[in-house]
Amino acid sequence: MTRSDATEILMTGPLMAYAADQLKARFTVHELWKAEDKAALLREVGGRVRGVAAGGGHNRVDGALFDALPKLEVVSSFGVGYDHVDAAEAGRRGLIVTNTPDVLTDEVADLALGLLIATVRQLPQVDRYLREGKWLKAAYPLTTSLRGRTVGIVGLGRIGKAVASRVEAFGLPVVYHGRSRQADVAYRYYPSLVEMAQDVDTLISVAPGGESTHHIINAEVLKALGPNGIVVNVGRGTVIDEQALIKALQDKTILSAGLDVFEDEPRVPAELIAIEHAVLLPHVGSASVHTREAMGQLLVDNLSSWFDGKGPLTAVAETPWKKG
Ligand code: NAP
Ligand code: 8YV
Repeated sequence: MTRSDATEILMTGPLMAYAADQLKARFTVHELWKAEDKAALLREVGGRVRGVAAGGGHNRVDGALFDALPKLEVVSSFGVGYDHVDAAEAGRRGLIVTNTPDVLTDEVADLALGLLIATVRQLPQVDRYLREGKWLKAAYPLTTSLRGRTVGIVGLGRIGKAVASRVEAFGLPVVYHGRSRQADVAYRYYPSLVEMAQDVDTLISVAPGGESTHHIINAEVLKALGPNGIVVNVGRGTVIDEQALIKALQDKTILSAGLDVFEDEPRVPAELIAIEHAVLLPHVGSASVHTREAMGQLLVDNLSSWFDGKGPLTAVAETPWKKG
């Protein structure tokens, strides 16, 4: 426990020192994930905790934790995706949940394009080829190309739009699928993901996790995408049926995949790791010093603003903030 201000905060998982040090400078901080007996720590301090800082590791923040924190007012979560927080339950209890939107949008969109090119032009495999001395014997075989592709974006939100503008700059047409058509967007909209997959050869998923997106990219969608198909996922692993994807890669139903996110992180199925032509990254979309510091700052600023009586800066949709 670190004592500063009398306001008591619970950190559910580790945070970069840049943000954790700021929290400890202002608040009295309890570090739940470090406690040998978490239930005992919650019994001891839970009645005084007014804020939660939900850091890395994405430990569940749900009704069970809220029950242990009767004075809780606000949950400040690291990351724009907050599927690890039961925000609907927080809303029912009159709690505020905040996330870290916008500050990571460009970083994740850059990574998505890097992953797309790495997958299509086989950059990790080409790099390994050189290091293994194979170039001395023969040139690397010709690869597939971005040229002539059409990109279907699944989840045209903040990051999806930043991906779309980068894809356009590469000279490729963009279409999208989401729950509804966006009036201010010129790209063709597909209410049906299967129909979009039939018409494109490249899917980039930037959709959030949670029940409504669970396995929406399934065997039927992959079959519709076809043998020249590339799937890139920088949203959440749960959006893709990972077993269906493995099968589609093994039997060449689709060509390849570039994945930054997985269903059960950090565990990645051995069958996926064995697929030499897929490109797999350990969830690094936002993982630059610049962007992680901006995210950490926004997590801290949300708590500071709340406890300064100024309300949250970036409350999520399920717990809207009305100035009163
Ligand atoms: P956002 O602005 O809220 O965009 C999310 C988009 O997904 C919206 O356009 C929404 O459109 C669409 N969507 C929601 N539910 C859907 C459904 N059931 N079917 C199809 N589309 C659906 O969020 P963002 O800032 O762009 O972030 C998107 C996600 O990226 C985050 O939630 C997070 O999971 C992921 N992310 C990953 C990394 C990484 O490191 N790889 C980093 C940051 C974020 P409609 O409402 O019209 O359906
Ligand atoms: C982070 C993310 O890597 O913002 C998100 O939704 O997935 C990433 O930016 C993650 O939140 C860190 O735990």
